[in-house]
Amino acid sequence: MNKITVVKENLHQIHDSNSTKPKSIIKTTTEEQNTSSCCRNRKRKFFFVILIVIVVLAIITGILIPTVIIRQDKSQSISITTTTRTIAKTTTTRTIAKTTTTRTIAKTTTTRTITKTTTTRTITKTTTKVTTTTEKDLIKLVVKNKVNGIFNTTIGGNSMKSTPGKDIGNYIDKESPDKACDGNLKTKYVSFGGCREGGNQKYCGLNTGFYFELERGLTLINGIRICTANDRRERDPMIVSLEGSNQSEANLTLGISWTLLYNDTSGLENITARNVCGLPQLFNNTIEYKSYRFLVHARQNQSDCVQYSEVQLYSF
Ligand SMILES: *[C@@H]1O[C@H](CO)[C@@H](O)[C@H](O)[C@H]1NC(C)=O
Ligand SMILES: *[C@@H]1O[C@H](CO)[C@@H](O)[C@H](O)[C@H]1NC(C)=O
Ligand SMILES: *[C@@H]1O[C@H](CO)[C@@H](O)[C@H](O)[C@H]1NC(C)=O
Ligand SMILES: *[C@@H]1O[C@H](CO)[C@@H](O)[C@H](O)[C@H]1NC(C)=O
Ligand SMILES: *[C@@H]1O[C@H](CO)[C@@H](O)[C@H](O)[C@H]1NC(C)=O
Ligand SMILES: *[C@@H]1O[C@H](CO)[C@@H](O)[C@H](O)[C@H]1NC(C)=O
Ligand SMILES: *[C@@H]1O[C@H](CO)[C@@H](O)[C@H](O)[C@H]1NC(C)=O
Repeated sequence: MNKITVVKENLHQIHDSNSTKPKSIIKTTTEEQNTSSCCRNRKRKFFFVILIVIVVLAIITGILIPTVIIRQDKSQSISITTTTRTIAKTTTTRTIAKTTTTRTIAKTTTTRTITKTTTTRTITKTTTKVTTTTEKDLIKLVVKNKVNGIFNTTIGGNSMKSTPGKDIGNYIDKESPDKACDGNLKTKYVSFGGCREGGNQKYCGLNTGFYFELERGLTLINGIRICTANDRRERDPMIVSLEGSNQSEANLTLGISWTLLYNDTSGLENITARNVCGLPQLFNNTIEYKSYRFLVHARQNQSDCVQYSEVQLYSF
């Protein structure tokens, strides 16, 4: 019994040292223990220990859980703020992106305006080129020997010499082929071709023209312009051709000597005015020749001849 009591007392002492708070409870239980049996005291102590454990656990849970919750709340709130910051950053980036897009659009608009201006400038330049380079790029037709009048001649075919007169194969003496290359719009070249004066056949004046060798030698030609004579629009050339050759003198009568450069409209289709030039007819040619042959293949309307004041060659 004594031994057990000592153990009890020791347990009390342990309890006292462990838990300082419930001293009065311990005293009352000790008083009850004195009056009741040992097993009951053990049970009570055991429950008391459990109670303390529960209280301690309650305190721990009471303090720790809220702390954890608060911490979690804090972490959550931190994470929220971080998210908000991220959102805010994204929004800023989007705003920047939008601004950049607006700037790009603005730049594109400016470029378009520049392009438009450039196009307008190019058009103006082209228009200026037609007017100014007409004189600048015009090749002065200074011929080596003479301008050779021809008739009954087709592209690539042999040239047939034309002579002054008013019959088949003739040209008007004072309206000779050289008048088409003299730079004077008041003079003209009149050729009857397969007809005589007063004729009215469809072929009158067709397949006529001239050829020459340039005094200056090899020259690149890539444009041609025809000018109307003083009267009779029906005599105006409509379809013309230009050939080039490196041959000279007698060899130029041979069709094999010639290379076709242009075979198309004269540029006089809509021109009714007299002693004026049509639009320059440009063509792609990169080869220089020293001799050129011009032929008329169609005229404006029925007549006994073909006539024109000038044939101008260009090197653009
Ligand atoms: C025209 O040339 C052809 C050959 O190409 C010839 O037969 C014809 O007689 C020529 N016409 C004249 C009027 O010389
Ligand atoms: C004419 O001569 C020039 C210069 O030699 C040359 O470039 C061109 O090819 C020649 N043309 C022909 C048809 O031979
Ligand atoms: C004409 O062509 C022939 C053969 O190609 C040549 O021998 C002759 O020298 C040429 N004549 C002239 C004047 O160029
Ligand atoms: C020249 O052009 C006419 C059409 O205007 C065509 O009938 C003819 O075949 C052409 N000649 C050559 C040699 O290309
Ligand atoms: C000539 O006039 C007609 C009708 O107006 C037009 O279609 C054509 O392009 C004109 N040709 C030239 C070379 O100006
Ligand atoms: C010249 O050649 C270019 C490219 O092939 C073409 O675009 C142009 O229309 C040609 N010009 C003429 C007058 O034929
Ligand atoms: C061609 O001439 C005839 C007769 O003079 C005329 O009736 C016709 O209208 C003319 N055609 C053109 C396209 O000028």
